[in-house]
Amino acid sequence: MLSSGIPVATLLDDPVSVEKKLSFAASKDLIRAWDLGLFYLKTPDDLDLESARQFGRKLIASDSPHRQVPHYGELEGFIALENNQQTKLALRRERWGQHYPEHIAAFGRQLDAIGIAIIREVFRQSGILEALWDRASGGYASGGGDAFLNFVYYDTRAPDWGLRPHTDYGFITILDASAPGLQIEVGGEFEDVPVLASHFIINFGEALNFITAHSNRAVSAVTHRVVSQQSTDPVRHSIVYFANPNLDGILWQFDAAGKEQGSSKVQDLFAQLENSLTESR
Ligand SMILES: [Fe+2]
Repeated sequence: MLSSGIPVATLLDDPVSVEKKLSFAASKDLIRAWDLGLFYLKTPDDLDLESARQFGRKLIASDSPHRQVPHYGELEGFIALENNQQTKLALRRERWGQHYPEHIAAFGRQLDAIGIAIIREVFRQSGILEALWDRASGGYASGGGDAFLNFVYYDTRAPDWGLRPHTDYGFITILDASAPGLQIEVGGEFEDVPVLASHFIINFGEALNFITAHSNRAVSAVTHRVVSQQSTDPVRHSIVYFANPNLDGILWQFDAAGKEQGSSKVQDLFAQLENSLTESR
């Protein structure tokens, strides 16, 4: 654990399967990560993070062909809002092959494997029977679900308030950021999450909090924000991977005895979160 109190995990090869296993130095670190809803993950050696970062940095060039990727609904495509420092290329897994170069699509699939390793450890700790993991997570635990791989940059020369406090709606967010700015709420106060070289920042979202709520070990959905960027480097780049449930799916809550404790349509859960967010503003 670091002086900031944020635990650090690594992915280890599992001798009995091809799957990698999430591992903390001490069980108290895992408990802290689950309670906080956030931890650092050592970036695996077989991941070509540098070329993914390069791809992200090139998006800023006005002649980048990826600035022409069309919008698919509100969430996908090359998105630049005028009143916002944030510009992004955001795509669901189904469109990676169409719009990302092969090495970026492959990078996305490696992040899928990391997301799956994390959610499987969450389930293992929760005591929920393995036979139910797939159903509880709407298929994400076995390679389904709804995954996004987004390349984002914040241009600090544009006026903006950054990203307001919020929780992520999905299961797991994997973040690689080139500069500080992320803060999390701990005991009512916002604290910096420093960039740690060669580590991703992982945080849990509402859907994972929901499906583990009645289990032996629930995870928290951490409230976080990104403060307005005023770094010495005027542009903050990040790569963000979201592991989400399918929007038209259902999430199930099980206890460790295998008993069903509740369920929600994904759309209903997200609509509820949207309402409470609007009310608190
Ligand atoms: Fe977020």
